[in-house]
Amino acid sequence: MADPFPNPKISFPTVAPSILAADFSQLSAQIKLAAEGGAKVLHCDVMDGHFVPNISFGPMVIEAVRKDFPELFLDVHLMIENPDHYIDAFVDAGSNLITVHIEVDRHINRTLSKIREAGLRCGVAINPGTSLSMLDEVLNSVDLVCVMSVNPGFGGQAFIPSTINKIKRLVEWRKQTNAMFAIEVDGGVSLKNAEKLTAAGTDILVAGSSVFNAEEIPHRVRDLFQKAIIGNSERV
Ligand code: DX5
Ligand code: ZN
Repeated sequence: MADPFPNPKISFPTVAPSILAADFSQLSAQIKLAAEGGAKVLHCDVMDGHFVPNISFGPMVIEAVRKDFPELFLDVHLMIENPDHYIDAFVDAGSNLITVHIEVDRHINRTLSKIREAGLRCGVAINPGTSLSMLDEVLNSVDLVCVMSVNPGFGGQAFIPSTINKIKRLVEWRKQTNAMFAIEVDGGVSLKNAEKLTAAGTDILVAGSSVFNAEEIPHRVRDLFQKAIIGNSERV
């Protein structure tokens, strides 16, 4: 399996600010600040108000971000029903990687193939209440597994502690199956848990409110990177 993030500027562990928490009245300026702090991957939370009880944004925002930030790796997280119907639109908008939820896609294999055939990287996401065993048939066909550490729909929620153990089990499973996916955690990530998360095996820390609610956005991204690197060095 190819490295899910072919961009040589991206190495693991990494911090992927989630624009869901950004001030949309100055989105470009906010993303610029996150990039100044070292962010190379941007997490884009797409919500349809059906799969999750919130509506966020669609391909147009991805397109606008791509225009302003050609160098950023856009990690697009689809929290939507019928993701299959929208893959082309998010591909055309300039996504680099598209993640769909295992809970919502009856034809997940077809969706993942469609993302891959478009030349993008593909990911699968699972909610806190979903067992890892649901990933049985897709683990070897994804570049990324996004483990939700909050119930999806809103930023700023409390981190669900059992996620740490779930990450450890997923790392074990990846070793046993020789799969090559990156492990991403999404929801409630902060300076308090970043080190523990990468020590447990997380490759990508998605951080929304921790980044965009900070006084100094670049500083906060740098601090999260530092914690992530320390945790990574503690991996057993
Ligand atoms: C689902 C979203 C959020 C967001 C991160 O609700 O995916 O998890 O990315 O938000 P914070 O970092 O504010 O919890
Ligand atoms: Zn997300």
